[in-house]
Amino acid sequence: MKGLQGKRVLITGASSGIGAGMAKVLAGYGCKLVLHYNANQAGIEQTLQTVTDLGAKAKVVRCDFADLDSLEVFFEEAWQQFGALDALVNNAGIVTKSTALKDSGARQFNRTLAINLQAPYLLSTAFAKHCIAAKQGGRIVNNSSIHGQATCEWFSAYAASKAGLDAISKVQAVEWGQHGINVNVLAPGVVPVERTNHILHKPEMAEKWTSAMPTGRYGTVEEMGEATAYLISDLTAWMTGQVITIDGGLIARGNYPRR
Ligand SMILES: NC(=O)c1ccc[n+]([C@@H]2O[C@H](COP(=O)([O-])OP(=O)(O)OC[C@H]3O[C@@H](n4cnc5c(N)ncnc54)[C@H](OP(=O)(O)O)[C@@H]3O)[C@@H](O)[C@H]2O)c1
Repeated sequence: MKGLQGKRVLITGASSGIGAGMAKVLAGYGCKLVLHYNANQAGIEQTLQTVTDLGAKAKVVRCDFADLDSLEVFFEEAWQQFGALDALVNNAGIVTKSTALKDSGARQFNRTLAINLQAPYLLSTAFAKHCIAAKQGGRIVNNSSIHGQATCEWFSAYAASKAGLDAISKVQAVEWGQHGINVNVLAPGVVPVERTNHILHKPEMAEKWTSAMPTGRYGTVEEMGEATAYLISDLTAWMTGQVITIDGGLIARGNYPRR
């Protein structure tokens, strides 16, 4: 894809799942990667090995996004790894399931909003400030979810965080378009990852989910990586403030399985 060779990209949450898939795909397109993780050291070492084997230059940075006060220092460290960044992929997130009736003191709600919404908001703001100071443009891709648009029981915190991310992305796109900074959203459907493989590949679960999708199958982390590559490539230089839903047609059919 045009314009990816040598692009310096920070991917948050690159130690497993979709983030690791994004890293692999972007490495294949010749990007230089700053790979973030929080707790999964073995995972980030695996991602680093994979992208290095593909010939990519890559660095690793660590941060717990629940500690919002640490984000400024973290971002500065990430920016400096290759002298600057051309793109930020806000992928890290937690999938929380709870009902309000059981979430005492809204602790889970607040933690979900901190990691999934406030952290990307603050990181994108830090990225924009650096880009503006350096008089350069930039690309931001926020990994949201179909839950930002259509959701179901248990997901009030998660859905709120993702709907909020969709909304913030549009506002930031409007605010920063004048500086050449594009902000778009990737909204994946059901993509099996290490965290969910054991559930989603049970025959009854696979049947329930894939039969709800017109395409009849789950998505892959590589497909999310390709979409991310597209959103930071030259092909989308005039695209900003958009939510790109990639879900095998699940929410278009409007037939969310009962959990
Ligand atoms: N898989 C799906 O079906 C799906 C669908 C729609 C949207 N998404 C979104 O895709 C993103 C990646 O999720 P995934 O499915 O690939 O799951 P995953 O494999 O569990 O990846 C989550 C990533 O987020 C990082 N993370 C978790 N807590 C963190 C914290 N406190 N501070 C900083 N980083 C933290 C993890 O880092 P460590 O493990 O190193 O702590 C990990 O790298 C999430 O935003 C999720 O909402 C996933």
